[in-house]
Amino acid sequence: MGKLVVVDHPLIQHKITMMRDKNTNSKDFKQLLDEISLLLAYEATKDLPLEEVEVETPICKTKAKMVAGRSIGVIPILRAGLGMVNGITTLVPNAKVGHIGLYRNPRTHLPVEYYCKLPADANQRTLIVVDPMLATGGSAIAAIQFIKDRGCSDIKMMNLIAAPEGIQAVQAAHPDVDIYVAAVDDHLNENAYIVPGLGDAGDRIFGTK
Ligand code: PRP
Ligand code: URA
Repeated sequence: MGKLVVVDHPLIQHKITMMRDKNTNSKDFKQLLDEISLLLAYEATKDLPLEEVEVETPICKTKAKMVAGRSIGVIPILRAGLGMVNGITTLVPNAKVGHIGLYRNPRTHLPVEYYCKLPADANQRTLIVVDPMLATGGSAIAAIQFIKDRGCSDIKMMNLIAAPEGIQAVQAAHPDVDIYVAAVDDHLNENAYIVPGLGDAGDRIFGTK
């Protein structure tokens, strides 16, 4: 079973509360999502392997550590996942970005795929699939399957807010994927929206409602 890491740093909790507020405008919402994404990425990259290198400081030569091994790929699930890319690439500027287009059918709540473009060397990277909302888990499960079908196996999932139902579903479908979230909410409502949640993340980021 993949691990679930809830990153509940006080600054993250404070910023999520601001995002939940229905009076927070799109500009502030995006800024807060940027900041939280960077903090989540800090946690999700905690286990990156290090190697020893030699460096010459102005004083002397010394041995020091640098990140070794696989590079990172960030895979936002369109649209709302786009709002998490900037924060992560601020922290990991060399990360490549792939895109997966999915939307939930409003009637069935099932994900509908419309786009997939991954970095050419995606199967040699540690991929972080990002989406602010993990509700039923349908979109995340489909996105991870998309990536696996293209030969990738080193995958993590990063969400802002998750419902217990979504976490369980992703863990059951993809037990090899660790999930990093900033908050686990109470439940889903009859429209499969997270309660209390923050509403429709895509609409709030892009101002479409
Ligand atoms: C939202 C959200 C996730 C999905 C989560 O996207 O950004 O992708 O719903 O729901 P699930 O866990 O039940 O699949 P939406 O379908 O609203 O598309 P959008 O990002 O284009 O607005
Ligand atoms: N998608 C959203 O944007 N919000 C939810 O609460 C559930 C799915």
